[in-house]
Amino acid sequence: RSIKSLTTSSSSHILRRGYASEAVPDRKVAVLGAAGGIGQPLALLMKLNPLVSSLALYDIANTPGVAADVSHINTRSEVYGYSGEAELGKALEGADVVIIPAGVPRKPGMTRDDLFNINAGIVKGLCEAIAKHCPQALVNMISNPVNSTVPIAAEIFKKAGTYDPKRLFGVTTLDVVRAKTFYAGKAKVPVAERRLIIFCNSSLILSKGMLDMWIYYSDLVFFLVSEVNVPVVGGHAGITILPLFSQATPKANLSDAEITALTKRTQDGGTEVVEAKAGKGSATLSMAYAGAVFADACLKGLNGASDVVECSFVQSTITELPFFASKVILATLFEHNKLFVRLNISDDKSIAVHMHFAVEVLYFYTIVNIVLFLCLQVRLGKNGVEEVLGLGPLSDYEKEGLEKLKPELQSSIEKGIKFANQ
Ligand code: NAI
Repeated sequence: RSIKSLTTSSSSHILRRGYASEAVPDRKVAVLGAAGGIGQPLALLMKLNPLVSSLALYDIANTPGVAADVSHINTRSEVYGYSGEAELGKALEGADVVIIPAGVPRKPGMTRDDLFNINAGIVKGLCEAIAKHCPQALVNMISNPVNSTVPIAAEIFKKAGTYDPKRLFGVTTLDVVRAKTFYAGKAKVPVAERRLIIFCNSSLILSKGMLDMWIYYSDLVFFLVSEVNVPVVGGHAGITILPLFSQATPKANLSDAEITALTKRTQDGGTEVVEAKAGKGSATLSMAYAGAVFADACLKGLNGASDVVECSFVQSTITELPFFASKVILATLFEHNKLFVRLNISDDKSIAVHMHFAVEVLYFYTIVNIVLFLCLQVRLGKNGVEEVLGLGPLSDYEKEGLEKLKPELQSSIEKGIKFANQ
């Protein structure tokens, strides 16, 4: 076997799950706004996710075409298209996760808050339907301004008597994705690094000099993908986005000026895309990726994996603000650390196993190369948020940023609450 043929099995962490040894439960995911700029690539990425068994694509128009197109992809899920309000109930019925990228995007010169008047109404209507048809679902709110649309959703669910703060998430993953990319570039570290780890009888290691031969004779081969990690807390607009570069890993010696520039670029990342698209919308492809990563974390949490940690805008008591983007623990440490374990049974047959098995094997084999796991950020579980993690130690610059963002975030939250109760 060549190294290449082995590495392809872990090439993407969206495609990576669905171990042969596991029974994967049925999960329905509904995407509301599925015919839009984010909705379409997000529908594609969710169709590629082996944790999804049923994919409901809803929009006010144009969903039959998107659904027919995506449905031809030969992956696990069945795809159904729903068009117009009359079909919203059917789209939502039985959904485990509802992702909402419905609403208008920004144009150059607009802030996310400028979208409030249109998107608040859209989100309100959709949340009323969620409360009625799938009150248990985990709701992933993408529609902007997230700082207000999440409080709107909370109020609508409260009125319907279905509110569970553990099940409502503002999707801020794109801020994390951007912070990781920009940090990796500045710190000159690979944004993700895949290491080949070989467990091998020591006498073989001594006698085999070539890596290919090691792999051939090894008993256990797996990959550890270590990623740059940057927590991003606060909210999802301008200065309310607070990347914590002091907690970024791997560590890099960046100057204060570099940290300030990185912070600003992360906060203005959305505007960078809006301006580059020159009136043709805001981030759609990177957002679809980020939305797919977050929905995947929710599904893993629901399926009982442990130590799934993401940043998300959730109800919290971490600060005096009722909602705050924090590290939330969603669900298996090893899965989340992008660990892929492969046990070689014979030359042409292999099965994937869980890491705890590999750890047991560790006692019997010599480790050729092992990398430490990275710490991660919100723990997700079977009921959504399992734990909201604290902010951790902040630098003086971050403490200052935190104080500065509070009034703006507070006012966006209040605006959402007021709208929902009008
Ligand atoms: P888009 O205009 O391309 O697509 C929006 C879709 O929503 C359209 O297909 C439209 O028909 C649909 N829609 C409108 N009203 C609806 C309703 N009542 N029910 C169902 N669908 C409805 O916009 P795009 O670029 O996909 O952006 C969508 C939203 O995502 C915007 O609010 C944008 O600001 C937000 N966004 C959020 C980000 C985040 O990090 N959370 C990042 C980028 C965008």
